[in-house]
Amino acid sequence: MDLLQRIKEKQGTWAGFVYKACLSGDAIALVAVVGKEIVGSCEVKRGRPGSDADHIGNFGLAVRDGFRSQGIGKALLSAAIDKSRGKFKKITLVVLENNKKAIGLYKKFGFRKYGFLPDAVRRGDKKFNDVLMYLELD
Ligand SMILES: CC(C)(COP(=O)(O)OP(=O)(O)OC[C@H]1O[C@@H](n2cnc3c(N)ncnc32)[C@H](O)[C@@H]1OP(=O)(O)O)[C@@H](O)C(=O)NCCC(=O)NCCS
Repeated sequence: MDLLQRIKEKQGTWAGFVYKACLSGDAIALVAVVGKEIVGSCEVKRGRPGSDADHIGNFGLAVRDGFRSQGIGKALLSAAIDKSRGKFKKITLVVLENNKKAIGLYKKFGFRKYGFLPDAVRRGDKKFNDVLMYLELD
């Protein structure tokens, strides 16, 4: 079964939701494929379509364990930025403060920190902060 068909069938899931947003022009989604497997994906999704903030795209990125540190995240991010030009004016994202690798990658592409949310995530008795970042596309 081809990739597009597999994504179309994921209605009601995050992939189905993003696919629908791509069709309406409110998202860009990219996948990295090795053989027949999706090993990474990213999306830039309009946060509030039709509002006066619809020039902002929210970014998400993940590369499957076992395929990391081979340049896949960098390639996905680079392509997502290129495809976002003319569609979004700014890209924003949220990343855990202890995710030094992701923050390093985003900084490399010009993302800047604009905020910080203490204790954004709680895992057992551990607390983690969120860093908010943005990239200007114009
Ligand atoms: C973060 C993630 C997407 C990166 O993808 P990846 O394919 O492993 O990364 P790449 O090999 O393409 O990119 C490597 C870049 O990351 C940065 N980087 C890597 N290790 C780093 C470190 N210890 N400190 C700072 N920056 C680092 C560098 O910019 C590096 O580029 P370089 O090799 O040219 O120096 C991936 O590790 C992942 O999916 N992690 C789990 C999910 C996640 O954290 N998603 C992001 C949440 S917002």
